Amino acid sequence: MDHFENPRNVGEMKDADGVGEEGNPTCGDAMKLYIKVEDDKITDAKFQTFGCGAAIAVSSMVTEMAKDKTLDEAMAITKESVAEALDGLPPQKMHCSNLGADALHKAIEDYRSRKEK
Ligand code: FES
Repeated sequence: MDHFENPRNVGEMKDADGVGEEGNPTCGDAMKLYIKVEDDKITDAKFQTFGCGAAIAVSSMVTEMAKDKTLDEAMAITKESVAEALDGLPPQKMHCSNLGADALHKAIEDYRSRKEK
């Protein structure tokens, strides 16, 4: 509940190393997730979302979970583990939790493709 009322890490990151955008076709909500990477570790994460309360709580939790994780560990964060960390989400809100984990994975892919250039 705390993440609904006091979402962490909201905002834009201008010097992000990776950015992931994800939309939810079910409801039209969208989110953008930024990560900062150092030595293969996520040192900071922020998000912006135009989503429902559950999407905001999920994004808040995902950014908290991603921090200080290696990229591989962060890739292993799933919507299930996020929902679990939030003590479960009502079934009709499960689709909202896809946004956070998917956007995180896209941000990591973005970072990796930038590095290859
Ligand atoms: Fe759109 Fe939850 S209703 S993300």
